Amino acid sequence: MAASSELVKQILELKRKRKAVLLSHYYQRPEIQDLADFVGDSLELSRQAENTDAEVIVFCGVHFMAESAAILSPDKLVLLPDADAGCPMADMVNAASLREEKARLNNPVVVSYVNTSAEVKAESDICCTSANVIRVVSSLPRDREILFVPDQNLGRFAEQRTGRKMSLWPGFCCIHDQLTADEVQKAKAAHPGALLVVHPECRSEVIALADHVASTSGMLRYACASPAREFIVGTEEGLLHQLSKQCPDKAFYTASNGLVCRSMKLTTLEKLALALETLEPRVSVETRIRERAILALERMLAIV
Ligand code: 13P
Ligand code: SF4
Repeated sequence: MAASSELVKQILELKRKRKAVLLSHYYQRPEIQDLADFVGDSLELSRQAENTDAEVIVFCGVHFMAESAAILSPDKLVLLPDADAGCPMADMVNAASLREEKARLNNPVVVSYVNTSAEVKAESDICCTSANVIRVVSSLPRDREILFVPDQNLGRFAEQRTGRKMSLWPGFCCIHDQLTADEVQKAKAAHPGALLVVHPECRSEVIALADHVASTSGMLRYACASPAREFIVGTEEGLLHQLSKQCPDKAFYTASNGLVCRSMKLTTLEKLALALETLEPRVSVETRIRERAILALERMLAIV
């Protein structure tokens, strides 16, 4: 195995040769975040994927993110360095079960979290991310029933903030959903001066204890702008790298040691180098699905 500085050099050379852009989510390993051309939350990464003029997009994230890039930029080659990097929450809904639920309800508007497959997006009216969920739900017609898939915690958070009642799919993020109010109370007792920031994929009893609830980049903005010096962070631990990097004079503590998404950690420097060298594994979406899925993504991206 090449030493890490050798690998980094190799990746940068291959990146230039392939005319590739490296996009990374905040939950990636620190060395991947540091090497990426852009690090962001799901919404920012979708915008980057839509607007890049690179020939190859290497998505350091999970499968649904690479699929969104393939939907938004069909003429680009999209690589996911580990083909097994899926999102367990996205797998909690499929197109057939969504069609059944739509038929059972009264012609609902379907809002799908971007953490869904292209097939599910194709069955949806509009997508949302944790950064724009309030704006997306608030934009929906008042006389229509809403079906929100698949994250029930995010859906409940949006219901509370918008006053809209929705049918919630019983999905959840196995990382955020396992964080308990008890663990959070213990972290608060250990760091009495710290503010608590949590992701809206957390359970409502955890959200109720928070000083601020936001997407990953919303948490970053909040922590950097706040006069407070210490923060307890209720999201996947990868964000702590970026928090410490952007606010080096502040202290960040994880709300629980269990906040690690194994799928996000599957991307390594070795796999990234191999993907750039072999131009594999590729992620693509068949035209029939893409043509419908892009409508839901574009309706979301049109909402500022
Ligand atoms: P955001 O970065 O959009 O907040 O998403 C969190 C997440 O769980 C991505 O898988
Ligand atoms: Fe999916 Fe949760 Fe991992 Fe994000 S953190 S990829 S929502 S399992």
